[in-house]
Amino acid sequence: MAKYRIAWLPGDGIGAEVLAAARLTLDRLGLDAEYFPGDIGWEFWCREGDPLPARTIELLGNTDCAFFGAVTSKPPDAAERELVPTLRGKGFVYRSPIVRVRQLLDLYICLRPCRAYPGNPLNCRDDIDLVVFRENTEDLYVGIEFEGVPTQMRSLPGMDRVPPDAAISLKVNTRHCCERIIRSAFEFARAQSLKRVTCVHKASVLRVSDGLFLDVAHQIAREYNDIEFENMNVDACCMALARHPQDFKVIVAPNFYGDIVSDLATELVGGLGFGCTGNIGRHYAIFEPSHGSAPRYAGQMKVNPIATILAAKMMLNWLGERNKAATLQSAVAAVIAEGRVRTRDMGGRASTTEMAEAIAAKL
Ligand code: NAI
Ligand code: MG
Repeated sequence: MAKYRIAWLPGDGIGAEVLAAARLTLDRLGLDAEYFPGDIGWEFWCREGDPLPARTIELLGNTDCAFFGAVTSKPPDAAERELVPTLRGKGFVYRSPIVRVRQLLDLYICLRPCRAYPGNPLNCRDDIDLVVFRENTEDLYVGIEFEGVPTQMRSLPGMDRVPPDAAISLKVNTRHCCERIIRSAFEFARAQSLKRVTCVHKASVLRVSDGLFLDVAHQIAREYNDIEFENMNVDACCMALARHPQDFKVIVAPNFYGDIVSDLATELVGGLGFGCTGNIGRHYAIFEPSHGSAPRYAGQMKVNPIATILAAKMMLNWLGERNKAATLQSAVAAVIAEGRVRTRDMGGRASTTEMAEAIAAKL
């Protein structure tokens, strides 16, 4: 029996292409794993009315971790139209399977390392090496939204200023979830000997919800005297990231700001072809490239597999295969530094497979 059982979820569009490319490198490293393919994405929405069928959730329950490509999401009218005729008009509602699975499995850390590999022509500068800890289960992403003010809410203080036809989304922060993401960020900083943690918020305006996040951050920071703690409004953080990204080490943020700030940081180190994500809980994790299914490029084998190969590196680390992770990272760094094999986003002509093969050849 293999040492690890890994759920393998290609999903839509370029998902299958980048996963196949990453697999080349995992196989070359000789990872002792068995891979179990699972159904996820648009095809299953259209055919079954569910982009995350129950059998896939069961598969996650029977594996050590999952490796995921990307899914396509479309607006409600298109979702309804593309359902098979027998399912139309039956009240099926599309919800992004990846957002759902993060909440379902309580994968509360969204970890996004943003590291500039020298030689990448897309780098903003070569000395960026930061990690974003994004809260992954609550905040504006709890999915509680309504059109129109519900009767029960009309008596709340300040609601007299809200017109009855307002569209409302709830931002929900809890002490428990703030604590665990902030503590994870500090623990990571300590383990990696990183000297600073930056807490991102907008507590000056969102005094209650972000106020809680910031309060908890101050509290936890006191337990980590060896690590400098700073806090920044999210807007100021974006400006500072654009100006001196090399000063950031560990950023911790509520879900929504973490989403935006991590995209900005990813762009500084090469863009979507380089952004990788770990969705990490206490006992399970799902690793994926940060990009989507890029339908425009599907089937062309043109996109950059490095994001997904770096996600594989994250998975190896999480599994405790630290040597293999380091070897894979060095191989990626070497191919980028040489600059001979480059995908289109990097200004070259190499295919997805050629890039993966170049990296595998270094292993
Ligand atoms: P996207 O990330 O799929 O692609 C945007 C653009 O980024 C592409 O057109 C391409 O120019 C570039 N790009 C993306 N991946 C790349 C790679 N590996 N190498 C080089 N260039 C790359 O975002 P878009 O177009 O907004 O969304 C497409 C679909 O993906 C939508 O249905 C969206 O809902 C979904 N999506 C899914 C995500 C997920 O599964 N986690 C995340 C983001 C979007
Ligand atoms: Mg995003």
